[in-house]
Amino acid sequence: MCCADVAGAMVCRMPDTLADLRALVADVRAALEDEALRGVVAEFSDEAPPEAVAVEASPRRATRPAVGGSWAKLADRAREKADTSVPVGAEGLQLIRDELGDCRRCNLCTGRSHIVFGVGDPSADLVIVGEAPGYHEDRRGEPFVGPAGEMLDKMLANVLGLDREEVHILNVVKCKPPENRNPLPDEVGACLPFLHRQIAAIQPKVILVVGTVALKALLDPSGGITRHRGQWGTLDGVPVMSTFHPAYLLRNPEGKRHTFADLKALGKRYDELGGRRTRPSPF
Ligand code: URA
Repeated sequence: MCCADVAGAMVCRMPDTLADLRALVADVRAALEDEALRGVVAEFSDEAPPEAVAVEASPRRATRPAVGGSWAKLADRAREKADTSVPVGAEGLQLIRDELGDCRRCNLCTGRSHIVFGVGDPSADLVIVGEAPGYHEDRRGEPFVGPAGEMLDKMLANVLGLDREEVHILNVVKCKPPENRNPLPDEVGACLPFLHRQIAAIQPKVILVVGTVALKALLDPSGGITRHRGQWGTLDGVPVMSTFHPAYLLRNPEGKRHTFADLKALGKRYDELGGRRTRPSPF
């Protein structure tokens, strides 16, 4: 029996095999890394940092280029496979969740504690798409609840004036990849049709993708977030902004001024399109 208090969560598991033991060690390592990051979670300030004035979001509009490669193919296949004629709102989301069931469509099912389906207002005007659940998300079954989630909450609250309950938060894949690695193409391919259907059910006015994996899956299969961030793209007619992943910002706080500008541009568009809010925009 192996019990350890990892990042406030009691991990109690009997490793049967060497593979189990390796997975346990990887989980502990990921949790400790998350815990170390917690120490560097910095506030997104209520005021524009001076650099943000000079680094406005680019007004260029990006369309989805037709490029070769496996990302392009899997993105196209996912869209073909996704039956997006779902009922809107909570009813549609429940239907998709039921269809997902105890999903075994890729290998990630072997290492998960929970499927992390998504969270938030079922008819939110803003959808946020991240990459994949990490240690904390896997334990709780909810996206963005670790240090990267704290950062995301601050980005939402302090720059957009929105709480997580007012938006809807999703990931490209719904199960935790081992050792915090990026999801593999077949894993993304298995999960992506569900993501498209969730977005179709929610019918947001604006989408925010954070990080390269979500960018490639939804907007530009050959894209990289450093080059693409701050530009508008579209997904089935819905405007999409892309920016750095909150976990990247924890490690690279100098990127925050760019994300600040990207979120300001997003907030402006959100308000222009009549996005609902319970308190005034901070900007
Ligand atoms: N990073 C993500 O991309 N998604 C999560 O849910 C948590 C961390």
